Amino acid sequence: MKKQANYEIENDPSIVEARKRRGKDVNISHFILDSKYLNLGVNKKYLLKTYGCQGNLADSENIAGILQLMGFEETLSELDADLIIFNTCAIRENAEERVFGEIGRVEKFRKKNPNLLIGLCGCMAQEEKTIKKIKSTFPYINIVFGTHNITSLPELVYSSIMDKLNRIEVLSVEGDIFEDLPVKRESKYKAWVNIMYGCDEFCTYCIVPYTRGKERSRRPEAIIEEVKSLAKLGYKEVTLLGQNVNAYGKDFKDLDYTFGDLLKDLHEIDIPRIRFTTSHPRDLDDKTIAAMALGGNIMPHLHLPVQSGNNEVLKKMNRKYTREEYLEKVRKLKQQIPGISITTDIIVAFPTETEAAYLDTLSLVKEVEFEGAYTFIYSPREGTPAAKYPNPLSEEEKKDRLLELNDLINSYFLKGRQRFENQIVEVLVDGPSKNNPQMYTGYTKHNMLVNFEPKGVKEGDIVKMKITKAFSWHMLGELI
Ligand code: SAH
Ligand code: SF4
Ligand code: F3S
Repeated sequence: MKKQANYEIENDPSIVEARKRRGKDVNISHFILDSKYLNLGVNKKYLLKTYGCQGNLADSENIAGILQLMGFEETLSELDADLIIFNTCAIRENAEERVFGEIGRVEKFRKKNPNLLIGLCGCMAQEEKTIKKIKSTFPYINIVFGTHNITSLPELVYSSIMDKLNRIEVLSVEGDIFEDLPVKRESKYKAWVNIMYGCDEFCTYCIVPYTRGKERSRRPEAIIEEVKSLAKLGYKEVTLLGQNVNAYGKDFKDLDYTFGDLLKDLHEIDIPRIRFTTSHPRDLDDKTIAAMALGGNIMPHLHLPVQSGNNEVLKKMNRKYTREEYLEKVRKLKQQIPGISITTDIIVAFPTETEAAYLDTLSLVKEVEFEGAYTFIYSPREGTPAAKYPNPLSEEEKKDRLLELNDLINSYFLKGRQRFENQIVEVLVDGPSKNNPQMYTGYTKHNMLVNFEPKGVKEGDIVKMKITKAFSWHMLGELI
């Protein structure tokens, strides 16, 4: 028999509410853990399952930081866990289905551990349909919180443990920026650094502006301090995060300081590698390109999602640039940052994409020669404008487009890597390869994966090696 949903509901999410960008300023807040929550997790273990983008990976490090402050310890074994939290992604339908499958599977562990708590957070929690589904079909999920509610976690865990209450708390409109959330970083050498939150682009296919709230930038001093302190701790690489890093600073009312300024300031810091993601082609400006051209610790790689090579489709997607403008920016990048590696995201079978429009995407791929790409079949997202556009393509036609595009793209991945054969490159060592522990892996400055025999090097070292063979997805190297 199905359990009756019995939730204490603080707030339900609403896509319509999320659209309302209220004029109010975003406050910078400080996180303090109430002493009442301090020992709640002692002798208990947590497991975090993270889906989606780097933004979610970074949030999970904050969630882990909060849980550890409460006394919880991390475990990687589902069977050992007293609390399993799913930090979810809503970008495409299949990602969502997978999560519910996993939750159903994990629930079975309650037979062994009746006190097991299950939590769901992240972008799916911001969707009305998820909350409906949880109430009707997954009422055994104990804790649900949204992307603006990470700081509610201690209280939600408290209610579940002490009062045996299942609770949902999701704010539709963003709250504050928290400057000093505890953080448990996954790596000792590579760190995520949020520089901004939210997205105001409203691409017509995309759910992110609804799940992540309006664009709001962290103050430059806070970011610079964080990077400096990471450098002092021995970090070798930081990746600056934002859904559209090129819009950084545009929300400052008292300061004329944008992404190019930030890169220039970070270039002065003694840390070997600075990366950033994601760039929006419309907002990528000359100042940013000039800052990248400084080289040094600013890595010669840019992820610049194009989505489509056809102007009609770009317009329908509300991307606010044309194919020609995109190509012009690529030309400038290649000219000012010689050897730069450019990667991208592409959506095929967007509702208005005709055969000719699709061929425009293929021709753009040939022109730019992307050295990496994430490619997707368009997935309608409830509440977004494009979900209402008619889409006459059959599932088979959609898949054919994706397969053909991938074949073409893979040839440029290979070409992009072959240019390094017999060259000396610098690699930041990640450690043993997952597939073959005899081999180590690491990334080059151009963000390309290299496998090599370790010969005494260790995780976090930056080493020189000769590339002996290139493949589409990785390269083989030999230490020199
Ligand atoms: N803010 C980033 C990344 C957003 S999500 C950016 O603007 O580039 C990552 C990628 O997912 C997007 O670039 C897009 O290619 C893809 N994507 C987003 N919504 C999608 C949808 N509804 N269907 C298919 N792919 C989608
Ligand atoms: Fe989505 Fe567009 Fe914002 Fe990227 S820029 S997160 S694709 S709305
Ligand atoms: Fe997914 Fe949310 Fe990131 S929808 S891609 S986890 S911002």
